[in-house]
Amino acid sequence: MFALMRTRSTNLIDDLTTGLVNNMRFSDRTVLWPPDADVRSDAGVRPEWFYPSFKDANGTSELDTIHLYITQEAMYEELSELLLGIALVEMKHLDKLADLISDLGGTPARPNSTDKLKYGDTPTEAVRIAISGEQTAIRGYEELIDRISALPSNATTGFCLSTLAKLIADEQLHVALLQGWLAGAESPL
Ligand SMILES: [Fe+2]
Ligand SMILES: [Fe+2]
Repeated sequence: MFALMRTRSTNLIDDLTTGLVNNMRFSDRTVLWPPDADVRSDAGVRPEWFYPSFKDANGTSELDTIHLYITQEAMYEELSELLLGIALVEMKHLDKLADLISDLGGTPARPNSTDKLKYGDTPTEAVRIAISGEQTAIRGYEELIDRISALPSNATTGFCLSTLAKLIADEQLHVALLQGWLAGAESPL
């Protein structure tokens, strides 16, 4: 009678991977994902606002980024640990955005094509493409913060803003990690 039973909706893998990924060096462990909140579809935040960052075939969405890094890490042995590590974090980003879009009443099942992605003809070029994509992703998240901050505040806007803050913190770390690799690759021996 003292046992606390988990609800059927509790996703233990989500909890596990959130903790795991957030404690890898590829994620900003000082900034956390917000705890579950009462995200509502009628609170003023439109799910469509998140589609470009989620899965769109724009070269910088979370799904495109996962595909990009997995491909680049297979192409270039010297990038394999860095890019696979970052790609795992991007998968958590994709997962969080999918849940949020669903909670906002949107459609997580969306089309995507990676046909136009550029991977880079050298490891250095691959990393430059990755950095540019991360910076574009950050600008997209910052624009979402501006848009959502302008709405009347409520639990949904608060959750979205905290989610965006975490996404930006991780992407900024990715830029720093990638720039660090580039500096090492370009420095004379
Ligand atoms: Fe990401
Ligand atoms: Fe990233």
